[in-house]
Amino acid sequence: MNLFEVYPLFDIEPVKAAGSYVFDKKGEAYLDLYGGHAVISVGHSHHYYVNMIQKQLKQIGFYSNAVINNLQTELAYKLGKLSGYEDYRLFLCNSGAEAIENALKLASFFTGKSKVIAFNKGFHGRTSAAVAITDNPKIQAPLNRGHEVTLIDLNDRTSLEKNLEAEDCCAVVIEGVQGIGGIIEPSASFLEAAEELCKKHGALLILDEIQSGYGRTGKFFAHQYAGIQPSVITVAKGMGNGFPMAGVLISPDIKPSFGMLGTTFGGNHLACAAGIAVLDIIKNEKLIAHAKSLGSWWLQDLASIEGIKSIRGKGLMIALEFDFPVRELRKILLTEEHIITGSSSDPNVLRLLPALNIQKEELIHFDTVLQNVLNRMDRVAAIEI
Ligand SMILES: Cc1ncc(COP(=O)(O)O)c(C=O)c1O
Repeated sequence: MNLFEVYPLFDIEPVKAAGSYVFDKKGEAYLDLYGGHAVISVGHSHHYYVNMIQKQLKQIGFYSNAVINNLQTELAYKLGKLSGYEDYRLFLCNSGAEAIENALKLASFFTGKSKVIAFNKGFHGRTSAAVAITDNPKIQAPLNRGHEVTLIDLNDRTSLEKNLEAEDCCAVVIEGVQGIGGIIEPSASFLEAAEELCKKHGALLILDEIQSGYGRTGKFFAHQYAGIQPSVITVAKGMGNGFPMAGVLISPDIKPSFGMLGTTFGGNHLACAAGIAVLDIIKNEKLIAHAKSLGSWWLQDLASIEGIKSIRGKGLMIALEFDFPVRELRKILLTEEHIITGSSSDPNVLRLLPALNIQKEELIHFDTVLQNVLNRMDRVAAIEI
């Protein structure tokens, strides 16, 4: 059987990883500034994380949600403490899209309504409702287009208010920081307005922190910079450091009932062990403070590089915008310099999403290499003219 090929592949096959590096079959090291798409939060193969998963697997790897699983309770307790959402409830599932799908279902159950407001340049996953609220018609099948969705511009308060006035909206879904769109932040005043307007018009505010959460921006959640409290928050990616898991944090106002949501694999023993290990490491190694201070230093250092048009982001979620498509630049960084970087839906934007415990020396190395590569590309462009 052949694979159903839906991904354009990087020409590299990692067979081993440690910290912020992955290694190919020949033992060549690659600096990972992409984190497998913002997934690697505590570094590849962290020994504490590996030990917890190994130990758990020897005990019990899986049982369904029909039995007591105290690892889920421990995970929820630790997540509540570290994120500051101790009074919220946690629903565990397996992927970002599934978390969004469940968050939207909850909002619809709770309000009895079905229209959703989401944002241009947003990305929320590829399942039915998640892809319907994603701003990319190319990845929507006709089946996905039956949802009632209005897409508006981020930070457009007037448009948000106008669309909520009909009182037919169950949810407004905002990314903590738009990731795939190219690291675009909602303003604090817009988030405050969204919180207030949702309350006024009987809709739930859902913050998609799947990419921007788990300490990536220097706070547990990016929306905490604005001091708001959404009704529902979705998490995934960094939550399991590569173990597939996701969650929905749900305000105490929303009461659960049996059968309302469900999953076979979500919250299984092995996933919980991975999720607890991640939270322990983030706490014990003070990775949120590290992401914040290192990120601030990095933004300043990047600003001294010649050839970048603009720099955006917070903590370790950073975009570099150029006045040319970054495809060739990323290719040179990968093949000649062994540095993995991310792209975005904007062809001119390079995304940097390293592990939260990356070290300053590794970032200095990247900055030096980037300047050299940009100089080289400049010289080649000059010769070609
Ligand atoms: C903000 C955001 N939401 C949702 C998703 C979907 O997550 P998954 O690919 O785990 O379904 C992604 C994935 O990139 C994302 O960045």
